[in-house]
Amino acid sequence: MLRNRIIVVVSLICLILTAGIGSALAGGMSPPAADGKAVYDYITKANPYQQWALFPGKGKFYKGAHPHGALLTTYVSQGALKAIQNKSGSYPDNSFIIKENYMHDKKLGAVTVMYRVKGYNADAGDWFWAKYAADGKIQKEGKVGGCIGCHTAAIMDDWVFTGPVK
Ligand code: HEC
Repeated sequence: MLRNRIIVVVSLICLILTAGIGSALAGGMSPPAADGKAVYDYITKANPYQQWALFPGKGKFYKGAHPHGALLTTYVSQGALKAIQNKSGSYPDNSFIIKENYMHDKKLGAVTVMYRVKGYNADAGDWFWAKYAADGKIQKEGKVGGCIGCHTAAIMDDWVFTGPVK
């Protein structure tokens, strides 16, 4: 019967669509592991950070302090943005803060990342730290002592200097 055939065809189309969206979510948009390469692929390919919001209150190329660079542009993920706007007190799991570090002449020097991963490093706010050269080469990643040591000074704002988040 024609009606049955139509039902079969429509069901098949629905199945294909569901599978497609499902795999896109699983592969592309699910948060990456706490790993330098996985994080870089996620923030540059799966969910390009340059399309995210800027850190509230900061424009592009704002003046930075030692050690990060003369000019900074900082992006936040959706969850991080909401936390700052709502003064939530802390950043939710899977939050990203991504800072581009530029020289005086606006040449990109490095990209530094804070990525909150549940259970990753309870001693230091569960942040995964990474530093990438302008070409994406990993310079530092993980529980980086230098990053943690200095950012401890911002522990009141959940290890983030630029805040506030409360
Ligand atoms: C000597 C202190 C110091 C060290 C070491 C340091 N940071 Fe920072 N970081 C800062 C300061 C201060 C800011 C605020 C922006 C500014 O004025 O430069 C900042 C800002 C950031 C931000 C934007 C969010 C925020 O906290 O404002 C990220 C992301 C970041 N740092 C990542 C890193 C990573 C990754 C490392 C290690 C590779 C690192 N930082 C090492 C002092 C430091």
